[in-house]
Amino acid sequence: MFPLSLACPKEMLPLGRKPALHHVVEEAVDAGVDTLVLITAPSKTSITKYFFEPLEATLPAGCPREAMEEIRRLTDKLDIVVIHQKGAKGLGHAVWSAHSVVGDEPFLVMLPDDIIRPAITKDMVALGGASGLGVLVVKEVAEDEVSRYGIVECSGDQQPLRITGAIEKPPVQLAPSRKAILGRYLLPAGTMSMLGGVGTGHGGEIQLTSCLDLIAKRDGLLGITLDPGRHLDLGTMEGYLEANTRVALEEPELRRRLGLSLH
Ligand code: G1P
Repeated sequence: MFPLSLACPKEMLPLGRKPALHHVVEEAVDAGVDTLVLITAPSKTSITKYFFEPLEATLPAGCPREAMEEIRRLTDKLDIVVIHQKGAKGLGHAVWSAHSVVGDEPFLVMLPDDIIRPAITKDMVALGGASGLGVLVVKEVAEDEVSRYGIVECSGDQQPLRITGAIEKPPVQLAPSRKAILGRYLLPAGTMSMLGGVGTGHGGEIQLTSCLDLIAKRDGLLGITLDPGRHLDLGTMEGYLEANTRVALEEPELRRRLGLSLH
């Protein structure tokens, strides 16, 4: 995504009328989330500016009130906590940065460079609530993509999947399946304590996948297999362009003005 990602963090890339992160926060609110922890880097000022500036009593001059109100309506439903991750030490470390806010409660992890349309988080929360287990979302990937993802081991193909293990970015010969973990996780109570004890893994980083492997082996984890077409990866140019087209097409007014149809 260079040089585009130098100009703008991937999660703030426009998808239709709004940045990607706005859509992901909407997905969280729709799933019943009331506390949002944004784990970010101090340099990504556009993120905090986007969500917090509309909360100020006096809006910047020339600011379209309606657009600001749309952001405000979303953030009004949430307590938002911003945490700056201390260094890029892996996804597990990023998630651990939120331990003082999350404690040992169940929680969701949503990676905003994975866009899933229609959204899946509400279904995950329903499945997790009914089973008391953690829930992952996976998709089947081609052999040459296996080493880009966390890959799960599971018993059978029945839905929901019974996940028995997970490994981060394995070479294809060592992969237990071609089921790749996508950036939506519902993690059970006790996950943060476990994460605190996980050592470095793939790439010398603290991997969330190492913790998933422990949870899967101890308590089991469920998986929802996603139709691959529902996953749009903002980390690739083709994923970004497709996501943008898809989201734009969801807006009837834009569809009409572009003379496009959904089919
Ligand atoms: C992270 C996780 C990986 C997961 C992927 C989903 O990798 O470590 O297990 O499959 O997100 O997008 P990253 O994309 O940060 O390299």
